[in-house]
Amino acid sequence: MKTLITYCTTHGCTEKTANELKDFLGGEVLLVNLKKETVPDLTSFDRIIIGGSIHAGQIQKRVKDFCSQNLETLQNKELGLFICCMEEGEKAEIQLQDAFPKALLQSAKATASLGGEFNFNKMNFFQKLIVKKVAKVENSVSHINHDAIRKFSQQMNHIFNPFLFLV
Ligand SMILES: Cc1cc2nc3c(=O)[nH]c(=O)nc-3n(C[C@H](O)[C@H](O)[C@H](O)COP(=O)(O)O)c2cc1C
Repeated sequence: MKTLITYCTTHGCTEKTANELKDFLGGEVLLVNLKKETVPDLTSFDRIIIGGSIHAGQIQKRVKDFCSQNLETLQNKELGLFICCMEEGEKAEIQLQDAFPKALLQSAKATASLGGEFNFNKMNFFQKLIVKKVAKVENSVSHINHDAIRKFSQQMNHIFNPFLFLV
């Protein structure tokens, strides 16, 4: 089983999350940062996982472009879609549904919001200002959801066995 995890990260959280996910998945897993690396030929992968983070309600444009440019190929793969963000519950779910094309959300084996972090060491002046004003957070904080990462990987690893209904 060959898996490709493609992702975009602004301050490193999605990269950390993708690495943690990699450790839970079986088989050969290749990580590709859409901003820095060239995406290999998608046909050589059985599974593809796409992740990005939410800033001002939006996932990175590179993630959107990657999805729309490879829509048909991605629909025929074992697909996983995730976001990193600081909203939780219903708001996170709305951001997730907004981040990816409907067709991919429907064909995906797993979709999830895997938590996020505010990393003040990586933010510029304006980002700090926005986070302080909007989220009312003054210091770095990590809410990466390790349970959700584990659950997401279990969903991706799950094999459908029709014979299980017979026993
Ligand atoms: C300027 C700024 C805007 C953000 N906007 C949102 C947002 O609209 N919704 C949300 O849930 N999280 C928001 N976040 C939180 C990010 O999604 C969170 O920091 C995430 O972990 C970033 O992942 P990354 O480090 O991989 O880019 C924002 C963070 C920053 C710094």
